[in-house]
Amino acid sequence: MIHAVTNTKGGTGKSTIAFHVLCSEAARLGRDFAMYELDEKNLTTEVFHNSEILDGRGQTLTLDYTVAAIGEVIYESIVENKEVIVDIGGGRDTDEVLHALANSGEIVRYYVPVEGKEAQITNAMGTIDMIEAAGGRANLIVNRTKGWTKDDCGANDIFGDKALKIKGDESILERVDNIYFIMDNPYFDHAQRDNMLLGDFIKEGSIHRDEMKLILSKLAMEKAKETGEFGKTIYSRNWKIWDELRKAYEFYQNIASQNILGL
Ligand SMILES: Nc1ncnc2c1ncn2[C@@H]1O[C@H](COP(=O)(O)OP(=O)(O)OP(=O)(O)O)[C@@H](O)[C@H]1O
Ligand SMILES: [Mg+2]
Repeated sequence: MIHAVTNTKGGTGKSTIAFHVLCSEAARLGRDFAMYELDEKNLTTEVFHNSEILDGRGQTLTLDYTVAAIGEVIYESIVENKEVIVDIGGGRDTDEVLHALANSGEIVRYYVPVEGKEAQITNAMGTIDMIEAAGGRANLIVNRTKGWTKDDCGANDIFGDKALKIKGDESILERVDNIYFIMDNPYFDHAQRDNMLLGDFIKEGSIHRDEMKLILSKLAMEKAKETGEFGKTIYSRNWKIWDELRKAYEFYQNIASQNILGL
C-alpha cells in the first residue's frame, strides 16, 4: 500500500509523521517498507543515519524526478509488496504527485497532518479538496495536541469547548475516513538529536522496570569498580536517562494503539 503524507502548508508535521510515526509503525508491525521524501529542500532522510529502522529504506528525491519517483513508489508497493511511505513536501507540484499516485491503480492512503487551529483547518480543507479531486479520501492527523482524544486534544476550532463556550466546526470530519491524534511532545526532537526515529529511540524503554533495575545495578557496580565513582551516583544517573526513554516508550503506546497505518 502507498501511504502519502501531504499538506500544501509548510511546517504542519508531514515529515515528522512520515518518518517518526509511519516508518516506526511499519517496523513495529514487521512490515517491509520504503520511505520516499519528495522534497529536495529538506533532506530529512539524511538526519536519521543512526536509525536501524530506516537503514537503507529512505530516499530523498528531487521534484525534477517526481514522475520517475512515482514509478518507483508504485513498483515497490505493487511488485515488492512493501508499505511505501511518501512525504510529499509542500511544493507546487503536490497536485501532480497526488494525481500520479491516484492513477497508479494501487491503494493509496492519504494523511493530512494539521494543528487544530482555524487557519490551518482552512488550509487542510484545500489539501483535502486536492486529494478528492485526484479520487482519494483523506485521513486527518490532528498534530501537536494536548491529549489523545477529541475531548482533550485542545483542537477547539474543530471540536469546540463547552466550558470555554467555543462552538467548533466539525465539518472537516465529514470529509475524512479516520481521525488520529499525535500529542505535542519532546521525543521526536530527542530521537532526532540522536539521529534516530522515535521507533529506534524507544526500544530500551520497552524493557520492564524490574529488569532494568537489575541491568543498571550491575552496570553501576562494574563502572564503580572501574572509575572509583560511587555506584549510587552512576546508578541514579543512568536511571534518569532510562526513565526518559521509558516515558517515550509509554508515549509511543498511544500512537501504536491507534493503528494509523490501517494494516
Ligand atoms: N507532535 C509534535 N510534537 C512536537 N513537535 C512537533 C510535532 N510535530 C511536528 N513537530 C515539530 O514541528 C516542526 C515542523 O515539523 P515537520 O518538519 O515535520 O513539518 P513539515 O510539514 O514536514 O514541514 P515542511 O513543509 O517544511 O516540510 C519540526 O520542528 C517538528 O519537530
Ligand atoms: Mg517536511
